[in-house]
Amino acid sequence: MAKVISEGIGKFYHHYPKVATIVTAQAKGKENAMAAAWHTSISFKPPIYGVSISPKRFTYQLIVDSKEFGVNFLPFDSVELIASVGGSTGAEVDKFQRLNIAKDKPVKTAVPILKAAYAAYECKLIDDRGYGDHRWLVGEIVAVHWLKKVFTPEEVLDLNKVSPALYLGGELYSTVAKDTIRSLDRDVYGKKV
Ligand SMILES: Cc1cc2nc3c(=O)[nH]c(=O)nc-3n(C[C@H](O)[C@H](O)[C@H](O)COP(=O)(O)O)c2cc1C
Repeated sequence: MAKVISEGIGKFYHHYPKVATIVTAQAKGKENAMAAAWHTSISFKPPIYGVSISPKRFTYQLIVDSKEFGVNFLPFDSVELIASVGGSTGAEVDKFQRLNIAKDKPVKTAVPILKAAYAAYECKLIDDRGYGDHRWLVGEIVAVHWLKKVFTPEEVLDLNKVSPALYLGGELYSTVAKDTIRSLDRDVYGKKV
């Protein structure tokens, strides 16, 4: 079937699903959490992570003020929390208090770490650059909090123990179908070429 070609990007969901995270920050006695689907690893050594945040977000100001942010990876059980922090602003409400969000203690920064997260990064801001209507915030990961029991010995997420929260766009959330896992060694497959 012929593909539609459009010039505009529309709702930008063509490349979804994405892992839905919660980005956290604090500054001047205020802490906050927002949903973020635009994020990625950038470097192993040193470990660097990037998130794309609109400067309109209350979280953005907290990150600029503190030069720190947290990225929290949550199970599918937490999608209502993701939608709640992604639909409200810390400029108007204290989300941690209103949503009764449980926290773990950070170790290298002051960013809130969510107890519900199966993994979380504490990041120190190393770059803040504008691209179009978003800011690309780059952070060095200075501490990783992770629930070892939900990862395999190879440190891959064990889908028998946790289902990651995915965002499909259009306010739709899902998770992965664990019966679709295939183990394909890149060295073996690379040699077939
Ligand atoms: C699933 C989901 C993903 C989102 N991803 C992003 C994102 O990557 N970057 C961004 O700037 N906003 C994103 N948002 C919007 C913010 O989470 C939302 O505007 C939030 O209310 C900002 O909160 P704050 O003003 O307290 O910082 C997303 C929202 C949802 C529901």
